[in-house]
Amino acid sequence: MMSFRMMRGGVAAIALLAAMAVAAGAKEYRIAVGDGAGGTQEALGKAFISALEKHSGGQDTGKLFLNGQLGDEQDTVTAAATGTLDFSILAINNITPFSPTVGTLTLPYVILSLEDAEKLTQGEIGQQMVEQTIEDAGVRIIGWAYSGFRVLTNSKKPVTTVADLQGLIVRVPKNEIMIDTYKAWGINPTPMAWTETFAALQQKVVDGQDNPYMTVNAMKFYEVQDHITNLRHIFSIEPLVISEQLYQSMTPEQQQAVTAAGADATQFSAQFLRDEEAKIREDLVARGMEISDPADGEKEFMDLAMTTVWPKFYDSVGGKEQVDQALTALGREPAP
Ligand code: MLT
Repeated sequence: MMSFRMMRGGVAAIALLAAMAVAAGAKEYRIAVGDGAGGTQEALGKAFISALEKHSGGQDTGKLFLNGQLGDEQDTVTAAATGTLDFSILAINNITPFSPTVGTLTLPYVILSLEDAEKLTQGEIGQQMVEQTIEDAGVRIIGWAYSGFRVLTNSKKPVTTVADLQGLIVRVPKNEIMIDTYKAWGINPTPMAWTETFAALQQKVVDGQDNPYMTVNAMKFYEVQDHITNLRHIFSIEPLVISEQLYQSMTPEQQQAVTAAGADATQFSAQFLRDEEAKIREDLVARGMEISDPADGEKEFMDLAMTTVWPKFYDSVGGKEQVDQALTALGREPAP
């Protein structure tokens, strides 16, 4: 007869074999993250990994590579498209050069709140963008993170008017819409990769940049920037993308697990922003940053950007109808 000790040994051996079998078939996906720890991108990534573990029954997981360790955000799109990278979490503006229709989400002053961002990305327009991005860029958006408005930071002076902006050297992503927005405000910005931005601010190659409070904090920009202007021209959206090649190589169950995990992570991200943004803003003030609101309710910035930039980019984002569809979905009048 088998003793309790022998039985216990047998059970342990079976458990070990099961664990080895899981480990043999298990996947640990590589997830590129542009920002540092503590921001929206990392929060979305962590939420995605734990949701993926749940939806795959513990079979699959992921590993985050923060701070652009796997390459600049725009380079990670190419890497995922060619199948050398599994996932990337990056700002939407760094997908636009590969898939111009997502530019609707970067047109200045289209998105005026977190609720607007959720409505567009999680509605019909977001779904159209997912499909278009697969076709244009070879990546599939499976989750959306929301980081808040891209506020302007600089090391020189408080900025509240378009006149204050003149003479400042401002870094922008390599994104035509964002470059033209600053041109509409009368300055020639410096397009630069995200991975080079902190050093450029530190070495004073540029005076300022724009990104949400969350990102300013995660990237420790408070060490090299003193002033913040609460611009609201772009509400930053940070998609989680999977290599379409990888997605197509998955079983239906695996596809279902990553899709469900992406949806869970999206919900988490919106709540993360609601819970954390005010506190991060206070932290930035405590670290010595001075925050100003644009004069005149931002009207001057808004009028210049909308009248100049929107018409110029209608064609590239899919036509004026595309922008009007977004505005209508948000309960606003079509563009003039
Ligand atoms: C950029 O400015 O290039 C991006 O918004 C950075 C980011 O992903 O946070």
